[in-house]
Amino acid sequence: MRDNPEASKNDGSTDAQRPPAIAVSGLSKKVADASGELTILQDIDFTVQPAETLALVGASGSGKSTLLGLLAGLDTPSSGKVVLDGTDIFALDEDGRAAFRKAKLGFVFQSFQLLAHLNALENVMLPLELRGDDAAREKAAEMLGRVGLSSRLKHYPKYLSGGEQQRVALARAFVTEPPLLFADEPTGSLDAATGESIIQLMFELNRERGSTLVLVTHDPAMAARCGRTLTIAAGRLAV
Ligand SMILES: Nc1ncnc2c1ncn2[C@@H]1O[C@H](COP(=O)(O)OP(=O)(O)O)[C@@H](O)[C@H]1O
Ligand SMILES: [Mg+2]
Repeated sequence: MRDNPEASKNDGSTDAQRPPAIAVSGLSKKVADASGELTILQDIDFTVQPAETLALVGASGSGKSTLLGLLAGLDTPSSGKVVLDGTDIFALDEDGRAAFRKAKLGFVFQSFQLLAHLNALENVMLPLELRGDDAAREKAAEMLGRVGLSSRLKHYPKYLSGGEQQRVALARAFVTEPPLLFADEPTGSLDAATGESIIQLMFELNRERGSTLVLVTHDPAMAARCGRTLTIAAGRLAV
């Protein structure tokens, strides 16, 4: 990532004077529903510095997944801004946001979102191939080894358990060593020992690469390991 000239050219920043990794201001999300309008998120403001680790916690239905999707530009807000590493992502068009994500972001979905017609290895190779990485196969195989799936490389998602699919999704998000890593309940389907090794992998990436981590979690132990915790209650940040 650091040696990708396109990535550093796009924001013009240097490590010495980096903007915040994430700056969220006045972020709201409303959707139409049967009774009119449903407010999912309201007036969210916060900033995350490069290499920070942030836990997002809150009751089920409080808006955590919606917020994480907005942070990644996977969904559009009703109002407000998300600035990632100096780039106002909603000032970009959809293609611009996709290019930004490809260069800088790893995302682990709560529902894994593996491609059904690709095997585990191919799923993890995909983000590398999209960047034209000649060593995609070797890097993907190595990352699948690190999540304990060396013996499942050729398995298609439907032949993997929930926990195994989650580990493939994590490997896919990690393999490009993105400066921004967002994960929605990344250990939700894992047993305690596997969950612990995944947590270690995420924090290693944070330490070794300076990746900024935002983790949605129900797990107090994982939240406790993050530098900071934000709590969402009914679509607002609790203070
Ligand atoms: N596209 C949508 N249309 C209508 N309601 C939605 C939509 N997306 C999310 N919601 C609702 O918004 C609330 C927050 O959802 P979500 O962000 O998934 O919560 P969490 O991840 O904290 O459990 C929930 O009540 C959910 O049903
Ligand atoms: Mg959720």
